Amino acid sequence: MSLMRVPRARRYLVCEPRYFDVQYAINPWMSEDSPVDRALARTQWETLVRTYRDLGHTVEHARPEPGLPDMVFAANCALVLGGRVFGSRFHAPQRRGEEAAFEAWFKNAGYVVHRPESVCEGEGDLVPVGGFVLAGHGFRTTPDAHREAQEFFGTPVIGLTLVDPYFYHLDTALFVLDDGHGDGQANVCYYPDAFSPGSREVLTRMFPDAVTATREDAMAFGLNSVSDGKHVIVAPQATGLSARLTEHGYDPVPVDLSEFHKAGGGIKCCTQEIRA
Ligand code: ARG
Repeated sequence: MSLMRVPRARRYLVCEPRYFDVQYAINPWMSEDSPVDRALARTQWETLVRTYRDLGHTVEHARPEPGLPDMVFAANCALVLGGRVFGSRFHAPQRRGEEAAFEAWFKNAGYVVHRPESVCEGEGDLVPVGGFVLAGHGFRTTPDAHREAQEFFGTPVIGLTLVDPYFYHLDTALFVLDDGHGDGQANVCYYPDAFSPGSREVLTRMFPDAVTATREDAMAFGLNSVSDGKHVIVAPQATGLSARLTEHGYDPVPVDLSEFHKAGGGIKCCTQEIRA
């Protein structure tokens, strides 16, 4: 199969892992007794940022704050669509300080931030594709926040029920291959068993050509990937998935964020997309 995939330049917001650590356990990947190698974490993260720049994307930096060890997971801070910012309200009290920290970056960059009333963890659970927003619930973001997001953006929000605690955020179980804003058709890649049967059916209906992944790929953080429509920045541990992506005409670009897996995060978690 030879398919012409066309990349589109993106604007990403990231946050350097200066204070990154595992100091509390709020998902099954985290354990206070698996120490983080902060120097290695930093090198891995710098490789990710360099990879984005080398592919022609713009990368902006929020300032990390001491006492917020998960701030590196910038994807959780907001959903930005059409230059409008729907901020976050974190489930874990340990992360709530990130709300103001990221809001400061947005304000400084000239954006107004809408703060949701119920728990909502940004692009961790809200994933725009093809004129819709796919929205996970079950562990973090609530259906109330889905309604609020729909009201705020005026974009249909499709609720999806997550059922496996290892895939507690939608972005650990699904990523967008093509957002449908270029010449390509909107499409996603996901791990079906992370979803309730009804949600699986919704995904099959919406994306009949989706690429599905195995549990092995999902456990290797393969679904926490970032695609620009052609290049897919993907965990090298997800070997099966990389082969499938190549078959579908995408270029897998391996970037290893193994230190961040200890906190339950990967490539997408570290990447907030700013959509103009
Ligand atoms: N330790 C963080 C948490 O559990 C990891 C967040 C990962 N981010 C993501 N977008 N899935 O909240």
